[in-house]
Amino acid sequence: MAVEILTLKPMHPTVEAALEAAFTLHRLHAAPDPEALLRAVGGAVRGLAVGAQVPVDGPLMARFPKLEIVSNFGVGYDTIDAAEAHRRGVVVTNTPDVLTDEVADLTIGLLLATLRRIPQADRYLRAGHWPKAPFPLSASLRGRRVGILGLGRIGRAIARRLEGFGVEIAYHGRRPQDGVPYTYHDSLLGMAGAVHVLIVVAPAGPDTNGLVGDAVLAALGPEGILVNVARGSLVDEAALVRALEAGTILGAGLDVFENEPHVPAALAALENAVLLPHVGSASHHTRAAMGQLVVDNLVSWFEGRGPLTPVAE
Ligand code: DGY
Repeated sequence: MAVEILTLKPMHPTVEAALEAAFTLHRLHAAPDPEALLRAVGGAVRGLAVGAQVPVDGPLMARFPKLEIVSNFGVGYDTIDAAEAHRRGVVVTNTPDVLTDEVADLTIGLLLATLRRIPQADRYLRAGHWPKAPFPLSASLRGRRVGILGLGRIGRAIARRLEGFGVEIAYHGRRPQDGVPYTYHDSLLGMAGAVHVLIVVAPAGPDTNGLVGDAVLAALGPEGILVNVARGSLVDEAALVRALEAGTILGAGLDVFENEPHVPAALAALENAVLLPHVGSASHHTRAAMGQLVVDNLVSWFEGRGPLTPVAE
């Protein structure tokens, strides 16, 4: 196809190969002079393939007068100004479903790692402490109450897995959902006061910015565990550091941070935090499936069949 597509970030090699086979592909990230590339091809580009690292806002979209579609690698699309895209008649797509199981699995792993202090135990053994004293006892999951902030596709997949752990499950979101056997809370603060574990898996955006702050953390209490696999913007990181340092919550498992890839030194110094470099969907299988969906959305659109997985504005 003679359609011109621009990638703003390196994609998996198989994805780049598929894009190259289907389109005339330009790579902004690989250009020796990105500004010169934009000037040269911006007027012809009809599709963007993007990932979370590069914000796609009005001024960037304005560089592409023929832009029809932005295909995002990832289910979260908070770095794309979708309302602005809509105003310009530009379709935005993301990669739902293909990563649901992977992120849900990782969330359970991160929760167990945080509660049972698995990375800390590994460090303890490697540092040679084991022969001198046993590793301190940890908290347990069975019998606890777990609250999920955001019972979307991934939230429900996490809840289904949690059912096997003998926990009570609660959730908070905009409205109660039909047909789910979990307790609905219409207030996040109320839910935080009623659970031991709070799992954050809601989309990022103006409505959810800084939702988990001092008050929610205080309500979670000294046995409380926070797990965030959504976006760093949902949690007030400074408030979280204060709570972890003071022991007003027990621990935190974080796969996402406010200013990735920057992780505050104060957070990295805390023994009661388990920190991962945003790897929720990061398996070969799932990243390949996400990449394929990025390509399939573009192909479907330019073959006149419409987008496969468009996002709401
Ligand atoms: C997503 O899909 O939004 C993930 O955070 C990317 O791994």
